[in-house]
Amino acid sequence: MVNRRIDEPTGTETVGHEWDGIEELNTPLPRWWLYTFYACIVFSAVYVVLYPAWPLIDKATAGTLGWSSRGDLAKEMSAANMARQGVFQQIAATDIEKLPGSPDLMQAAISGGAAAFKVNCVQCHGAGAAGYQEFGYPNLNDDDWIWGGTLTDIEYTLQHGIRWDAAEQTRVNYMPAFEGVFDKAQVSAVTGHVLSLSGKAQPNPAGAQLFSENCAACHGPAGGGSPELGAPALNDAIWLYGGTAAAVTKQILAPRHGVMPAWSGRLDPVTIKMLAAYVHSRGGGQKAAPAQIETDVAQTPDKAKTDG
Ligand code: HEC
Ligand code: HEC
Repeated sequence: MVNRRIDEPTGTETVGHEWDGIEELNTPLPRWWLYTFYACIVFSAVYVVLYPAWPLIDKATAGTLGWSSRGDLAKEMSAANMARQGVFQQIAATDIEKLPGSPDLMQAAISGGAAAFKVNCVQCHGAGAAGYQEFGYPNLNDDDWIWGGTLTDIEYTLQHGIRWDAAEQTRVNYMPAFEGVFDKAQVSAVTGHVLSLSGKAQPNPAGAQLFSENCAACHGPAGGGSPELGAPALNDAIWLYGGTAAAVTKQILAPRHGVMPAWSGRLDPVTIKMLAAYVHSRGGGQKAAPAQIETDVAQTPDKAKTDG
């Protein structure tokens, strides 16, 4: 039996039911709430038609717009790829000595090189490129280059490796072993002379004589080294194998002949170029000689240097 009436204390209509004298007031939902609710229903109906919505067994209803989050991602990725491809192509097309002339490209090459370095080079040269002297892996951060420090030199070193037999044009030079050639006194004299070159020992005339006869051809008369021959400078404080008398003697008796793999064929030319740019940027790399590059060196001839 429906029996609506106005509830006196509240002034609100009842819904008309009564249980044991208990009645329920009829309080309608606020208008604003109701209309928002209807709007939501309309919105979701439109949404279901336009966008992927109902889950099916292996996919969802597609929606008439054909939108998908995967499609969105693919679009963004391909845009990013296009941008990267563009930079790659530009780096590929730019002569390595001209890279520093376009700072943006050089910067892109350096960061690309840094990433490739983490994958291919850290196991020998260390995460900070500081090398490991105990194994003869050189520090690439110093301004001392065994095989030359121009971008072109470094790129060549990377392409062909060092004493890497499998690469025809690899950088190669073998310091002879003086074990059995020199007697004990001679070994200690020439060691003394080598150390004197960097001010670590008194001049040693006998050693100097032996040095000029046996060592100067590769290391230079004053021990300044020779990048063409991969003979390190002996007159600076930077050592491949260590600057103690013991380390120098060891090298004289039984040279190590360090080996670095060639990277051509394992890494693409653009990656090698970027690695060269990165290494060059770490080590205070050298500028190419004026003969090799006329353009920007012409304005700054004082900065061009061929050896260091
Ligand atoms: C298997 C160990 C090894 C790996 C890997 C390696 N190197 Fe080397 N690298 C060496 C050794 C050893 C030398 C020194 C060879 C010598 O005695 O002349 C060297 C020398 C160099 C030089 C010449 C330095 C100079 O002063 O002339 C450069 C540049 C260089 N490495 C860069 C790299 C880069 C870049 C990578 C990664 C793509 C790399 N290396 C990976 C072992 C390695
Ligand atoms: C045929 C060229 C050649 C001759 C001759 C030569 N060297 Fe070397 N020397 C090298 C090369 C190349 C290296 C690079 C090290 C390696 O990987 O073996 C080297 C490295 C060294 C090193 C290590 C430098 C460092 O930074 O740790 C010392 C020391 C050295 N030579 C001393 C001598 C002395 C002393 C003589 C003469 C008795 C001599 N060398 C003769 C080519 C030569």
